[in-house]
Amino acid sequence: MIVTIDGPAGAGKSSIAKRLAMELDFDFLDTGAMYRAITLGIIRSHLEWEDVPGLIEFSRAAVLRWEGEQIFLNDQDVSQEIRTPTVTSAIHFVADLPEIRCELTNQQRRIACDLNEAGRGIVTDGRDQGSEVFPNAQCKIFLTASPEERARRRQEQLSASGRFLPLDEVLVTQNRRDKEDTAREVGALRPADDATIVETDGMTPDEVIQKVLSIVQQCSEYE
Ligand code: DC
Repeated sequence: MIVTIDGPAGAGKSSIAKRLAMELDFDFLDTGAMYRAITLGIIRSHLEWEDVPGLIEFSRAAVLRWEGEQIFLNDQDVSQEIRTPTVTSAIHFVADLPEIRCELTNQQRRIACDLNEAGRGIVTDGRDQGSEVFPNAQCKIFLTASPEERARRRQEQLSASGRFLPLDEVLVTQNRRDKEDTAREVGALRPADDATIVETDGMTPDEVIQKVLSIVQQCSEYE
């Protein structure tokens, strides 16, 4: 079984997808981490963002590998560094390129296929999982919340890690990312036609997980 969880930045997809995978005893694939790792690799390799053939070649040659929740790029653990603001602000150069999306889409499908063949289910999280990568997934969820709620949650996360940013600053960055993610020509952020949309404003993480679990249960019944 494949469960896809898509949605905008700050909707809490990763933590919900991770918990859902644990509850279901499925594997979890964080596809944002793949885009992040390729972006980090390109920054480190000092390629110019205008060098599109170079960026594509880099993404095709790069080897991504997981050990539990840690992600390795060409055998180097990059799990921490892919989360820095420098990487986040440059991702659109990578995520906007259809050739790189195609490469990562193929890798995501291969991972899911290998797991399914081994009898394992998978929860994937991203922007295009239900709409483009896994159009036949048995269960598609689109997790979202108002921009203000998402920004508030992000601000809380940041202050928990010792960084305080004013809410309007968090909102400006978030709005820019929303615009980049929804305006992309290929792989734009959007709910698949058959996705269930979950608006999480005012819900606790436990309430969201219960809701999502009940959706997955319904999907399994219809299978
Ligand atoms: O989920 P995240 O915030 O770690 O994702 C980082 C960026 O990667 C996101 O802003 C857009 C891109 N991305 C994408 O284009 N497609 C995906 N399936 C996942 C992420």
